[in-house]
Amino acid sequence: MFIGGYISAAGLGLTCPDWPLCPSGIFPNEKYFIEWTHRLIAAITGILVVAITIGSWIAKNSDRKIKVTSTLAAIFVVTQITLGAIVIDLKLHAILVAIHFGIGILLFAMVLLTTLFAFRLDKNTFETRV
Ligand code: HEM
Repeated sequence: MFIGGYISAAGLGLTCPDWPLCPSGIFPNEKYFIEWTHRLIAAITGILVVAITIGSWIAKNSDRKIKVTSTLAAIFVVTQITLGAIVIDLKLHAILVAIHFGIGILLFAMVLLTTLFAFRLDKNTFETRV
């Protein structure tokens, strides 16, 4: 989200016109470095979020809340990456960029909730500690 904010503010949104790779291919060059980094982090985030979701469904004792929030995170991350491609295809249409930002927040919220549930920092934990 940090790099996405920088891309948007610096007006670099269309420096890399292709998807999924930039014209430089798998490796970046100076011209596409920021956009390339945004996509690399998105790809790593996507893999990790989907892995957590699969893990939450495979694990026998995982909480139902974790399954719900991690599944929502997986849906949001796939939507977000797909939307990234559409944002570029439609030349940074303002509404799509705004939705891209909004889904980023929802994704962050789901990952944060999953983390909190995983460490059992839910309401009951706070109540028993106080
Ligand atoms: C986990 C995945 C991703 C997250 C969390 C994310 C998040 C963000 C955020 C927060 C912004 C700033 C939006 C704003 O300031 O209004 C942004 C901008 C942008 N993102 Fe992503 N993004 C992701 C994946 C992608 C992918 C895969 C692409 C394209 C292949 C992409 C393309 C863009 C572009 C072109 C912008 C700049 C829009 C502009 O110039 O206004 N994003 N992203």
